[in-house]
Amino acid sequence: MLIETIDEAALSDLVQRFYARARQDALLGPVFERAIQDWPPHIATITSFWAQAMLGGDRYRGNAFAKHMGKGIEPQMFERWLTLWRQSVHEIFAEAAATRLIDRAELIGRSLHSGLLFARGPTWPDN
Ligand code: HEM
Repeated sequence: MLIETIDEAALSDLVQRFYARARQDALLGPVFERAIQDWPPHIATITSFWAQAMLGGDRYRGNAFAKHMGKGIEPQMFERWLTLWRQSVHEIFAEAAATRLIDRAELIGRSLHSGLLFARGPTWPDN
């Protein structure tokens, strides 16, 4: 049964499925394994981030942009990130909810991507 309503429990399930994929991924896995020593708090933070993005409130207090600087993130990683997100979303959510979650990730992903591109300066992506 696919879920119609986005709530915190469903988002937690989504984030866990996403990371199960991301950690095994040849491109993204090493970036996460380098950056994250303790997974449960990271999963909890990401779940709060998504709960805030989709349900509102004041659940995430962090600087998601700054957290991505200096992590060895390359432009082609964004498309892979989104592919894994779409796969995970479609496993759990019905169409309307899935579309909202994917649209939001694309939007945030684009702004994160252009922000990192700008921060890294004109040598991106070849250095
Ligand atoms: C190229 C794709 C991406 C890669 C490789 C990546 C990698 C990472 C890594 C390694 C961290 C841990 C940083 C740390 O704790 O020091 C992180 C944190 C995080 N990422 Fe990403 N990320 C990507 C895209 C995205 C996108 C598209 C979103 C949102 C839609 C996102 C949301 C977050 C959030 C909310 C955190 C937690 C920040 C915090 O701890 O406060 N990431 N990411």
